[in-house]
Amino acid sequence: MKMKLALAMIVVACFLSSRIQAALQVGFYLNTCPFAEAIIRKEVFKSFLRDNGIAPGIVRLHFHDCFVRGCDASILIDSTSTNQAEKDGPPNGITLRGLEVIDNAKARLEAACKGVVSCADILSFAARDSVLFTGGQYWNVPAGRRDGRISRASETIEIPAPSFDLDQLTQSFANKGLTQDEMVILSGAHTIGRSRCSSFTNRLYNFSTTTMQDPNLNPSFAESLKQQCPRNSQGNVDQNLAVFMNQSPFLMESSYYSNLFQHGSLFTSDQALLDSQETAQDAADYASNGFAWRRDFAQAMIKMSQIQVLTGDQGEIRANCRVINP
Ligand code: HEM
Repeated sequence: MKMKLALAMIVVACFLSSRIQAALQVGFYLNTCPFAEAIIRKEVFKSFLRDNGIAPGIVRLHFHDCFVRGCDASILIDSTSTNQAEKDGPPNGITLRGLEVIDNAKARLEAACKGVVSCADILSFAARDSVLFTGGQYWNVPAGRRDGRISRASETIEIPAPSFDLDQLTQSFANKGLTQDEMVILSGAHTIGRSRCSSFTNRLYNFSTTTMQDPNLNPSFAESLKQQCPRNSQGNVDQNLAVFMNQSPFLMESSYYSNLFQHGSLFTSDQALLDSQETAQDAADYASNGFAWRRDFAQAMIKMSQIQVLTGDQGEIRANCRVINP
């Protein structure tokens, strides 16, 4: 009986790890489009100088792409009259940033080497460059991803919600072949960027039948959030209002983890990282060692960026990242 159980667990582990494929290659475009990475980096840098918020925007785009149908650039496809695409799914919509940077890079790449560089790879390179420009650690991006031909808003249910507890988060990452440690590491991306008030106002107003405010939220932090996200006379918060994730929203450093211990993070899903001994220990380690976090973040991004990728003759190289090839 024990033997059977062990065998079943091995089969499940193999199945899950097969969702992360290792068929990609560093230097994939060396012969076919040697300046691909330089062209992408230049576009990201140009946009970053104009608006440093595109860096967190692109990192998040990559995460949301990889969690739905794998890293196949399905998040970049526009909706049509017959299909509501991922882009317009509940966690995405107006919260997405950086889409036009990928379009610009794609236009330049099509002019330099037509039909060669996939939108999925552009997004992965651009996410690496975004981390670099915000002070994170550089990594070599294994490439050779192909673009998917399907994008459905309904499938964005795969993206974890800010209301998730630790078990839900762990399960959501395990579904993509990522460990709980990697979940803690990747959540540290919330050291950069911003959030709409609507993603956390449930913690400020009408939290439960017994308490208005989430008791897990530092009261003075909650007060400052309420000032930034006030309710109008109907009791609603303006959907367009946003706040910075933390005190240094354009710098990849590990204050995200120390904020958790002050109960000063925006989402229930952030605070939930302290709900087990192992995850709280990880968070404590990264709070005190930003270098280790930046190193482990780069490794975890390499793994995330290989979730269920299409390679070889699968998928296509889209000519326009917003539209499936005819
Ligand atoms: C662990 C589960 C996660 C949840 C529940 C979550 C949820 C969210 C939410 C609700 C926002 C704010 C969106 C808005 O209202 O504007 C956000 C922003 C962001 N997330 Fe996550 N996230 C998670 C993991 C990740 C991961 C793994 C990454 C990247 C590796 C990431 C990167 C970001 C970035 C950079 C932003 C800021 C985006 C911007 O400034 O435009 N998140 N996340």
